[in-house]
This record gives sequence, C-alpha cells and structure tokens, in this order.
Amino acid sequence: MPTPKLKTLVIAAFALILSSPFDGVAADMDPAPADWPSFDYQRKPGEFKRNKYGIVDPSPDVVSLQQLPVDTYGFVDWTKAIKDTIIAPRESISGKPPALGPEDSEKFSGDILIRSKMKFMPDVIFPHSAHTEWLKCSTCHPRIFKKKAGATPITMTGIWNGQFCGRCHDKVAFPTRNCFKCHSVPRSTSK
Ligand code: HEC
Ligand code: HEC
Ligand code: HEC
Repeated sequence: MPTPKLKTLVIAAFALILSSPFDGVAADMDPAPADWPSFDYQRKPGEFKRNKYGIVDPSPDVVSLQQLPVDTYGFVDWTKAIKDTIIAPRESISGKPPALGPEDSEKFSGDILIRSKMKFMPDVIFPHSAHTEWLKCSTCHPRIFKKKAGATPITMTGIWNGQFCGRCHDKVAFPTRNCFKCHSVPRSTSK
C-alpha cells in the first residue's frame, strides 16, 4: 500500500503521461509538411496513421488553413481548393459511397440567373457546378428548390431565417455577409 504522498506522485506522473502527447499536438501543431499530398488518407476511420515502418505517425494530416486559397473577402475559397486539388473530400465519413437515388444520376451544371427583385441589388448567379461537387441533386431538389428556374419564391429574409440558400449558407457554407459572392452580376436590363 503506497503512502499518501507516493500515491499523489503516481497520479501526477500518470496524468502527465496521459496529457503530454495530446498537449503537444494541440499546442504547436505544425502546418502540414510540403509533401502532404503523399499522405496516407486511406486509413480506416478511427485508426492511427502509420509510417512506412508501421510505426504510429503522430504528424497532423490536416491541410493547414494557411495553405488554402481565400476569396476576396478573406474567407476560405473551398471551390478553388477543390479545383486546384488542394483538398479532395471523401464521399462520406465512413468512406462508403452514399446511397444515391435514380434522380441523382442526372447531370446538370448550368448557372442559374436569379433576377433581383430590388433595384439596388445586383442579380444572383447560382452555380450548379460548385454545388454538385459536394452535394447530390436530391439534397436540394425538390424539397428546397423546384427544378425550374424562377419557380421558387426565394427571398432574402427567408435566407436569413435559414430557408432556401440559408439552409447551408451561414451554417456550413460561406456566410451571407459576403453579399456580392451571390449578388455577383449586374442587373439585367431586359425584364
Ligand atoms: C447565399 C447567397 C446570397 C447571399 C450571400 C446574399 N443574398 Fe441576397 N438574395 C439571394 C437570392 C437568391 C435572392 C432572391 C432573388 C432576388 O430577389 O434577388 C436574394 C434577394 C435579395 C434582395 C431582394 C429582396 C428580397 O428579399 O428578396 C435583397 C435586398 C438582398 N438579397 C440583399 C442582400 C444583402 C444586403 C446581402 C449581404 C448582407 C445579401 N443579399 C447576401 C442570395 C443571397
Ligand atoms: C445546392 C442546391 C442545388 C443542388 C445540389 C442542385 N440544384 Fe438544381 N437548382 C437549384 C436552384 C437554386 C435552382 C433554381 C431554382 C429557381 O430559380 O427557382 C435549380 C434549378 C435546376 C434546374 C432548372 C433549370 C432551368 O433552367 O429551369 C434543373 C434542370 C436542375 N436544377 C437540375 C439539377 C440537377 C440534375 C442536380 C444534380 C446534378 C441539381 N440540380 C442539383 C439548386 C440546386
Ligand atoms: C444544400 C446546401 C446549399 C444550398 C441550399 C446552397 N448552397 Fe451555395 N454552397 C454550398 C456549399 C457547400 C458551397 C461550397 C463551400 C463554400 O464556398 O462555402 C457553396 C458555394 C456557393 C457559391 C460559391 C461558388 C464559387 O465558385 O466559389 C455560391 C456563389 C453559392 N454557393 C450560391 C448559392 C445560392 C445563390 C444559393 C441559393 C439559391 C445557394 N448557394 C444554396 C452549399 C449550399
């Protein structure tokens, strides 16, 4: 039976051993090394990354935010990050392809012009290609948007209340305070 003093010491040492490796990683996480594309992203979820000798490789395999492109507003430009193959998102967290319905096999990559209802705002371009890179058709059609240009009565207040584009923007996609990333084209004069 250890004396109380020794017991404290043992517990303290134990706590140190437990916390130190995690502290190290969180506190001074280096940017991913320059050769990051050769990282093994294929390991199974929950498994350690191992080097070629089979030893656990503790280096971070995240792409440092510093290496991601930013848009003119200073936010990460995810569309460019994909285009420039800086990131290659997986199909799903488990790595298994998601379940697709027949409606998801349809192809469409057109830009949709959504005309502004108010004179002082530029028109909106909705780019399909930037979205279908991440999302399947049935994420949006028909529940959020009808599959016909102009058929959905989109309003800005609705967006700010989390409807329409606001289902994602302000939540998981770039924030709506980037007005002109959506309101990106001069108002069309032919109405
Ligand atoms: C995620 C894309 C997106 C962003 C970001 C965005 N809007 Fe909109 N906005 C739309 C769409 C789509 C419409 C509907 C078409 C229209 O009327 O222009 C709209 C409509 C509007 C309208 C017309 C009135 C109405 O309620 O429909 C105003 C005014 C407006 N937006 C202002 C803004 C301002 C100001 C910002 C930035 C603070 C902003 N928007 C950011 C997509 C966006
Ligand atoms: C992020 C949401 C989103 C996703 C994902 C999406 N769409 Fe759309 N789609 C829209 C919006 C917004 C409109 C325009 C609605 C409006 O103007 O009322 C639209 C319109 C359309 C239109 C009508 C075009 C026209 O000129 O009338 C077609 C066709 C279409 N989408 C097909 C697809 C297909 C096929 C896919 C999958 C490959 C897809 N969409 C994925 C949001 C989306
Ligand atoms: C189901 C989710 C979802 C909905 C609904 C949605 N978006 Fe997006 N949008 C995304 C994601 C994800 C991205 C890519 C990540 C980012 O840029 O933040 C994106 C990116 C964009 C971009 C940037 C494209 C580029 O080339 O950089 C624009 C513009 C845009 N969305 C406009 C809209 C407009 C306008 C609407 C509504 C008509 C809308 N989005 C509805 C998820 C959505």
